Amino acid sequence: YIVKDKVLNTKVMGHRGAALLAPENTLASIRAAAEVGATWVEIDVYLIAEGGLVIFHDDTLDRCTNGTGLTRDARPMEVAELDAGAWFSEKFAGEKVPTLLDALECIQSLGLGLNLEIKHDSADVENIVPSVMAMLRDHWEDNNKLMISSFNLAALELCYEIDTQRHLAPLYEYIPDDWQEQLASIKAYSLNCDYSRLTETQARAVKAAGYKLLCYTANDPKKVEAHWEWGMDAVITDDPTNFAFLSA
Ligand code: G3P
Ligand code: MG
Repeated sequence: YIVKDKVLNTKVMGHRGAALLAPENTLASIRAAAEVGATWVEIDVYLIAEGGLVIFHDDTLDRCTNGTGLTRDARPMEVAELDAGAWFSEKFAGEKVPTLLDALECIQSLGLGLNLEIKHDSADVENIVPSVMAMLRDHWEDNNKLMISSFNLAALELCYEIDTQRHLAPLYEYIPDDWQEQLASIKAYSLNCDYSRLTETQARAVKAAGYKLLCYTANDPKKVEAHWEWGMDAVITDDPTNFAFLSA
């Protein structure tokens, strides 16, 4: 029954852009992924104060910007002033925390596919999801180059309620016993999981059930050699150059 089959035309997705090559979740990181040949990127979208949507991973601003405090409490005007590049290297000083719209425009102008991971506190599902979905409806052209993923099934359930045609991907550190029910409930496209916890039995079951299988975050190709044989469709990596041999 899974008809959403055209989307995944890649074996390698850059993680947070290309997190080993440039400051994660910045436009520089997205461009770096494209420069080394990645055709898809994974980035995280985070709800901040005043309904702002930015590309950011952490619950606090401290690690990846020159700001401090809770990400969700930061106001868009404040976040726009932050430096999100200098912590990584001086070369990237002045790099900004992108808004979701900045990122959507940049990714499409580079011709990339997007795996958009929704980050949030569970209480925020009702706030972040409709807003992200409206932004995608208005600013993303090609549904076959878009996947929406989240560790929170409730977020994906709401995505599905809003638009049944999006390619949805539950994320798991450990795959739960009832994964099949979870995926079926939102007509998921893909199961995205931690490569290091995935077993061969689980991988083969996911593939037998007709889903795509993506694994994060592998930077050493040797560590996912077996996974390709088990049916893994794509790897999410901080450095796509390490997997360039796949497209050679
Ligand atoms: O989408 C895969 C991966 O990004 C999930 O973990 O913490 O890096 O967002 P995290
Ligand atoms: Mg992520």
